[in-house]
Amino acid sequence: MRKTSTLVLGFLLVVAFAMIGAMAYQLKANKEATNDSGAPIEETPTQVAGIVHNPPSLDDVPDGPLGEAILRGYELTNDTSNVLRSEAATTADGEARVNELSCTSCHAGAGMDEEVSSLVGMASVYPMYIGRSGQIVTLEERINGCMVRSMDGQKFADDDEDLDAMVAYLAYISEGIPVGAELPWRHLSNMDDVPVPSIADGEELYQKSCIACHAADGSGTGSNTGPALWGEGSFNDGAGIARMSKMAGYIQNNMPIGAAGTLTDQESSDLAAYILSQDRPEWKNHAKDWPHGGRPSDIMTKDKRDAIKDGTIDWNEVLGKN
Ligand code: HEC
Ligand code: HEC
Repeated sequence: MRKTSTLVLGFLLVVAFAMIGAMAYQLKANKEATNDSGAPIEETPTQVAGIVHNPPSLDDVPDGPLGEAILRGYELTNDTSNVLRSEAATTADGEARVNELSCTSCHAGAGMDEEVSSLVGMASVYPMYIGRSGQIVTLEERINGCMVRSMDGQKFADDDEDLDAMVAYLAYISEGIPVGAELPWRHLSNMDDVPVPSIADGEELYQKSCIACHAADGSGTGSNTGPALWGEGSFNDGAGIARMSKMAGYIQNNMPIGAAGTLTDQESSDLAAYILSQDRPEWKNHAKDWPHGGRPSDIMTKDKRDAIKDGTIDWNEVLGKN
C-alpha cells in the first residue's frame, strides 16, 4: 500500500515537472518572439498602463456587515481623533489614544485624493518589507505604524474591530488593483535634493501663507481644515513627515491648499525647517528603527531641534550633502 502511493506520488511529481518545464519554455519563446522586421518586440509596461486611480464610490458599498465595516473604516480614517476621542470611556483615554490629527490630515480625502499621499491600492501592496522596521510589515502593522508615530497614539490590538474596519475600507478603495502592482501615485511627496534652509525665511513665509489655516502657533484650526503642524497635538518625531525630505516634498506638492506647486524647492525647504525646528512629541524608539542600517540623516529629532536653537546645526550633514 505504502509502496503504491509512493509510486503514484513519484509519477505525479514527474508530470508536474514536465508541465512546469513546458510552461517555462513557452514563456521564454514568447519573450524571444520577434516582429516582422526581425527586431525584438518592445516590452510594453502593461502592468503599469492598466493601473488607474479610480476608487469606487462609498455609495456602492455592499449591504450587510462588510458594508458597515467599510463605512466605519472610512469614518475612522477621515475623522480619526474626533471618532476615537468621542467614543473613549474617559477623556484621558481618548487623549492617550491619538493626537488631534486624522489620517486625512496627511492622506487627503481619507486617502482617496490621488495627489496627497493616496492610500488607494495599499491592500494590494502590503505585506511588504519596510527598512525602518527591518521586517515584512502587514497592512494592519502599517496602519498601527501611523497610529503610534503620525497620530502620536497607541496601537490598535490585533483583534480590534476598528482595525479590521480600516483594513476593510482600504481593501474597498484598492478594488481592481492587482497584487504587487507598481502604483504611480506612491511616494510623490518626497524631495530628493533638499536645499540648505533658512529658518528665518521659513518663518516669514509661514506667517504670510500658512497661518490662515494652521494658526500662527502651529496648533491648527482642525484636523481636516488646517491640522496641527507642531506642538502636543501634532505628529511625533518618529513620523515619516518629520524628515526634511518628506516634509519639504509634501509642502511643495500640496500646500498652500489652492496654490499647490507654486513654492520653490528653497521656499519648501525653509518652511519645512521652520516647522520641524519647533517642539513636538518625542518618539521613544528611535534606537530600534532601521535595525539593519540605512537610517536617514534628515530625521528631525530633539538633538537636531536643540542644535538649531543653539546655532550648531550642520545642515549639510542633515541633508546628506557631505
Ligand atoms: C502627519 C501625517 C500623517 C498622518 C496623520 C497619517 N499618516 Fe500615514 N503616512 C504619512 C507619511 C509621510 C507616509 C509615508 C509616505 C511615503 O513613504 O512616501 C505615510 C504612510 C502610510 C501608509 C503606507 C503608504 C505606502 O505607500 O506604503 C499607510 C497605509 C498609512 N500611512 C496609513 C495611515 C493611516 C490609516 C492613518 C490614520 C490612522 C495615517 N496614515 C495617518 C503621514 C501621515
Ligand atoms: C486654505 C487652508 C490651508 C493653507 C493656506 C495651508 N494649509 Fe496646510 N493643510 C491644510 C489642510 C486642509 C490639510 C490636510 C490635508 C489636505 O486636505 O490636503 C493640510 C495639511 C498640511 C500638512 C500635513 C499635516 C500635518 O499636520 O503636518 C502640512 C505639513 C501643511 N499642511 C503645511 C502647510 C504650509 C507650510 C502651508 C503654507 C505654505 C500651508 N500648509 C497652508 C490647509 C491649509
